[in-house]
Amino acid sequence: MTFPKGFLWGGALAANQAEGAYNIDGRGLVQTDVTTGGSVDSPRFVTYIDKDGNPGKAKSMGHNGQIPEGAKFAVLETEYYPNHQAVDFYHRYKEDIKLFAEMGYSILRLSISWARIFPNGDDKEPNQAGLDFYRSVFEECRKYNIEPLVSIWHFDTPLALEEKYGGWTNRKLIDFYVKYAETIFNEYTDLVKYWLTFNEINNTTMFLDMFGSAASDEAYQEGYQILHNQFVASAKTVQLGHKINPDFIIGNMICGITFYPGTCDPADILANQHKWESGIYYCGDVQAKGKYGTYAKRLWKEHNVVLDITEEDLQDLKNGTVDIYTFSYYMSNNITTHTDQEMVSGNFSTGAKNPYLTYSDWGWAHDPVGLQYYLEKIYDRYELPLMVVENGLGAFDKVEEDGSIHDDYRIDYHRAHISAMADAIDNGVNLIAYTTWGCIDIVSAGTGEMRKRYGFIYVDIDDEGHGSLDRTPKDSFYWYQKVIETNGAVL
Ligand code: BG6
Repeated sequence: MTFPKGFLWGGALAANQAEGAYNIDGRGLVQTDVTTGGSVDSPRFVTYIDKDGNPGKAKSMGHNGQIPEGAKFAVLETEYYPNHQAVDFYHRYKEDIKLFAEMGYSILRLSISWARIFPNGDDKEPNQAGLDFYRSVFEECRKYNIEPLVSIWHFDTPLALEEKYGGWTNRKLIDFYVKYAETIFNEYTDLVKYWLTFNEINNTTMFLDMFGSAASDEAYQEGYQILHNQFVASAKTVQLGHKINPDFIIGNMICGITFYPGTCDPADILANQHKWESGIYYCGDVQAKGKYGTYAKRLWKEHNVVLDITEEDLQDLKNGTVDIYTFSYYMSNNITTHTDQEMVSGNFSTGAKNPYLTYSDWGWAHDPVGLQYYLEKIYDRYELPLMVVENGLGAFDKVEEDGSIHDDYRIDYHRAHISAMADAIDNGVNLIAYTTWGCIDIVSAGTGEMRKRYGFIYVDIDDEGHGSLDRTPKDSFYWYQKVIETNGAVL
């Protein structure tokens, strides 16, 4: 295996899925705080109080269009919300970071919860308790020589901004976000060097593509405007970050899925190319090249989208390109125009089942070659340093009588993907880091389950919130320790 000297090995988690402590030390609410648990067969719901004061539940589908007119998001006494407690990283981060250090991490990806810093999003002054918390977390990382890689936004816009301004469809969010970024850049300039602007930014419209013709033009209008506003926010943030500290390295973060043509029918080849454009390149091109791709006009036309874009925005996009391209990778998808194929869905995309691949219990394809393909394709397109900042297997784990957890399936998954990364590096790709999802079990973003476990560290808590929250290293913990110790030579 060939991994360059100084390659960064670690893991990743997100505030809303790990921290818990949802209403502690002045934190405001975010959407996951009003989202119930679900499963692979039943969706998560958002809860609200309608304009007549009655409690209600609506399917959780990203933006705030899903609750009835005049209703307010609300935490209902009668519901269980898995993210409220999550795995209590808020109180246990010292213990957890110590375990990450034991595995040998040189990098830890985590996110700051915007609502801990600005509880309503539009507050004049930041919340000191929130600032103190993350200072302490980053200091703990530094104690073990772990480089924090910080996502500024990981699916958690303060709910107050959704309610008061309509969320990211409103350009005002750009300024609120930039102010938040400026605050944390100044605050942690001595502790954090690597930043990511928006987690899986491309999900907003890739998610709509899953519904085919059932997704309305209005939904696309909203989705593309949200993306445009986030692109501008990201670009302004990159420029500002470089001004505050020229040593900052600021990246984007794309939900990376490798798409293949489902058949060799030329119509499928073209459909697949268009899928790369709408799903993967659309955001990557703006953030890494500083301008919309040539195909963007076609996409807008297809959905009758007219965007509010100013000359100043275009200038910002040009001047605010990212230093590194980062992405998550879990699986691949087959794109086809043929309707006689079995379909599978996972991580914001849907496609035909690939007969050459195996699938997880949640229907996600196991495809390490797809990771090599993605790395080579994307590096060739942008020639920017790359980081794989999420990769992992959501699986059921069994705790043996003696407390051990033998997760060979997870080891196999990571071994194959690390091997694919090494092959991509041998093919010239400048890959500089790998942060697995997750380092520790946390609440699943998609289903809200705890039993969909990704961690190398087991957390004793179930889907109803029962358990001691005790941490136990799984077999994968010791395996990954060896991988890091040998810089990928022993897999
Ligand atoms: C990515 C997200 O979509 O995939 C994470 O950035 C998420 O937040 C991860 O947890 C795995 O998805 P899930 O739905 O299995 O938790």
